Amino acid sequence: MTGATTLVVGSGFVGTRIARRLTAAGDAVTLVSRGRPADPPERYGARWAALDATDAEACRRLVSRLRPRRIVLVHGPSDVTWCEAHPEEAARAHAAAAAAFAGAGGRARVLMISTDNVFDGAAPRNTEATPVSPANAYGRAKRRAEELLLARAADALVLRVSLVYGHEPADAGKWLNYFAACAHRLRAGARVEAPADQWTTPVHVDDVAEVVAAVLSCVTPLPPVLHLGGPDRVSRAAWAGVIARSLGLPPGLVVAVPKADSRYASRPRNTCLSSDLLGTLPATRDLAVRGVEEGARDLRALFTGP
Ligand SMILES: NC(=O)c1ccc[n+]([C@@H]2O[C@H](COP(=O)([O-])OP(=O)(O)OC[C@H]3O[C@@H](n4cnc5c(N)ncnc54)[C@H](OP(=O)(O)O)[C@@H]3O)[C@@H](O)[C@H]2O)c1
Repeated sequence: MTGATTLVVGSGFVGTRIARRLTAAGDAVTLVSRGRPADPPERYGARWAALDATDAEACRRLVSRLRPRRIVLVHGPSDVTWCEAHPEEAARAHAAAAAAFAGAGGRARVLMISTDNVFDGAAPRNTEATPVSPANAYGRAKRRAEELLLARAADALVLRVSLVYGHEPADAGKWLNYFAACAHRLRAGARVEAPADQWTTPVHVDDVAEVVAAVLSCVTPLPPVLHLGGPDRVSRAAWAGVIARSLGLPPGLVVAVPKADSRYASRPRNTCLSSDLLGTLPATRDLAVRGVEEGARDLRALFTGP
């Protein structure tokens, strides 16, 4: 049991799983966001407080009250399409939150969940040594936030994560991850149009939470930037086929289309990360990151259950 006081900024799809994992390990976790999360943190032993992470003074007050040893920045805006339509708001929000916690964090370890969209998508897979070159507004906003955090916080880490997937209930209204969106549409008998020319290295959300827990607890020095991608490089179309088969549904429901004709037109061709460096670090080398077949198998019961 760690007993650490941990602040998780953002209580959405990824933040909630991280908070659950850290709470299970014994951290005293407070999640913050502007609105109450759909999954009430009290149910799994965490707490929630209202906070706008772009309000530097409110962040400072919260940190001086809680005195967290760890801070995880996992807040929005996270929707690539929204960021493309609102580039200045996206940039302002990510920069303001990173600056606020870099300044207010004191001696806390501040871990920011970043993205493979800091790359332009030209390379099939990106390592920590690949030069960044964001090709969309979301990637530019996240890159600026990375820079601010790494330059200003005493103990900062950036964990760039590839496309994250996991379970979301059928009645969530709007599914935040590709796996859940595909699974629920396919189960309803709907066709899924998926690009055959947009590639990703998907990561199960529980594997993200596992790596975050390990990195936060690591007492030996870590590289300031780490990548976490799943072991499989798949096109969205191929992945949707895996999802259909794992749910016992006809793969013919998946229709491969060109990225340019799909809702993913503004995404880089490759959003893929190599986890090779993570695989060499003592803190993380024994952690197994699931491939897409195993991930789909592990999620099957949650999507087909009663
Ligand atoms: N999902 C992925 O595949 C993926 C992959 C790589 C990196 N990431 C990164 O992980 C982070 C979270 O992604 P996600 O998928 O969990 O997104 P999400 O489900 O949309 O959750 C975002 C959370 O941030 C909160 N938030 C937004 N603006 C805020 C503000 N100004 N102050 C405080 N809280 C705020 C939202 O709640 P309110 O709106 O109520 O405030 C929500 O709880 C993003 O930064 C994204 O770049 C995600």
